[in-house]
Amino acid sequence: MNSALIRTENVAKVYESGDISTAALRGVTMEIAKGSFTCIVGPSGHGKSTLMHLIGGLDRPTAGSVYVDGTDLCCLDNRSLARLRGGKIGFVFQFFNLLPGLTAKENVETSMMLSGVPEKEQAARSRELLALVGLADKADSKPSQLSGGQQQRVAIARALANDPDILLMDEPTGNLDSAAEKEVMEILHALHRHGKTIVIVTHNNDIAGQAEHIIQVKDGQILLP
Ligand SMILES: Nc1ncnc2c1ncn2[C@@H]1O[C@H](COP(=O)(O)OP(=O)(O)O)[C@@H](O)[C@H]1O
Ligand SMILES: [Mg+2]
Repeated sequence: MNSALIRTENVAKVYESGDISTAALRGVTMEIAKGSFTCIVGPSGHGKSTLMHLIGGLDRPTAGSVYVDGTDLCCLDNRSLARLRGGKIGFVFQFFNLLPGLTAKENVETSMMLSGVPEKEQAARSRELLALVGLADKADSKPSQLSGGQQQRVAIARALANDPDILLMDEPTGNLDSAAEKEVMEILHALHRHGKTIVIVTHNNDIAGQAEHIIQVKDGQILLP
């Protein structure tokens, strides 16, 4: 048995747009252990986000295999893939991606609507998650009334809505000042201590320095340590 929660085997991704094809990933084999705190690092344009999208089942590789908790994602149709994502993976992005017309609490609830959380439990659970990220008093605020760091904490609460095993984050502090970055990182470390598998794509060395495990991406490949 292998304790890898995420594993890729020889994954390649080629983007085709018009006449141009870009080989974003060129044979990536790697794994991420269950319960680990991992950073995926590397220069801009070298395939980090592509790798994150593939291991999160947001996109499909051109070749090779991605396994999440032992399931080969290529065997899943789009519906099953969406179900696996919804149940096991929470996503956080650089620009928060909150819905501007909804309150913090409603933003967190949007993630529950697609899953099995019964409607009458959604409000209480959403409040609990906002309290967990230190925003109990901001449940009724709209994103425009929150700072960047607070918006990202709402996005983390939303990512936790379905109690995923894995949090996959693409430059989650890339748009934050250093105080807000520290707050977000403290939350991620606390979640890690509670057993979540944390995966952060970053080119920030301070953040990478906090990881237990670093995966270095260069030119669409993994640099061996
Ligand atoms: N949807 C896309 N269509 C075409 N090319 C893309 C697409 N997404 C990324 N790329 C290209 O793939 C390469 C890797 O991009 P990306 O994974 O976003 O890198 P990183 O996250 O490390 O900055 C880049 O050359 C980028 O321009
Ligand atoms: Mg990127």
